[in-house]
Amino acid sequence: MNTRSYLYQSKKKSKWPWIVAILVILSAGGTYWAGAQGYLPFSIPSITTQEEEPVEQEPALEPEQPIVTDPEPELEPEPEPEIDRSGAKGYEGNETLPQEPTVIKDILMASKQYPLPSDYAPGESAEAREAFNEMAAAAKLDGFSLVAFSTYRSFERQQELYERYVSNDGQEEADRYSARPGHSEHQTGLAFDIGEENFEEHFARVSFGETEAGKWLAENAHNYGFILRYPEGKEKLTGYMYEPWHFRYLGKETSQEILESGLTVEEFIEQ
Ligand code: DAL
Ligand code: ZN
Repeated sequence: MNTRSYLYQSKKKSKWPWIVAILVILSAGGTYWAGAQGYLPFSIPSITTQEEEPVEQEPALEPEQPIVTDPEPELEPEPEPEIDRSGAKGYEGNETLPQEPTVIKDILMASKQYPLPSDYAPGESAEAREAFNEMAAAAKLDGFSLVAFSTYRSFERQQELYERYVSNDGQEEADRYSARPGHSEHQTGLAFDIGEENFEEHFARVSFGETEAGKWLAENAHNYGFILRYPEGKEKLTGYMYEPWHFRYLGKETSQEILESGLTVEEFIEQ
């Protein structure tokens, strides 16, 4: 075999694989096309880009509802609306808000007599929350699930609430159960309005004092640093009607001292 015929033969041989490959590709492509068009008795997924189904988006979550419910507007009227309040501790002469808060005997005051600066905004006290958690754990062992349904309130929040109460009940009545802005203990971050889980009907109601949980709190809160701030029959001294749900954190030592003395905070600071 001369060189020319060798080249000829080898060229001729190398064409076949190409032809076979082209035929295979064409027949596979045709079969695929026919399948995708539905001409075959079996289905082949279409390779055309399908418009993507819109993925249902979770609606952006609402910010968590605050635990604070401030249910005070629904307060039951006191059984004795004609109560004699002559000589009650009031706002007279104490309406102007100071630049600095008043501390007496280590107690940060917030009352009708001792207002806070309007920009005093410490938020909820971590120490008071920890004490509350400790108390709630102890109450749980005795069968009560305590919840703090209102704790820190800013000056602005108190203003909003107070204005609402005044428009609902009139100023004289509102002043018996709600502090004016700048005068609320809730603005200190140290006041906790406490109720029992699943018994919202007693939240911020005098009836809470009659419940087992309310009694438990009145008897035990001082062991965790809290005192019942507005006891029954002391409206003239504290400036507010009986609030069996409102507890003020003072630390264990001071709250035990006040409890043993049988005095209100107002009397205690004047001793
Ligand atoms: N309910 C209490 C007196 C307050 O408004 O701070
Ligand atoms: Zn309160």
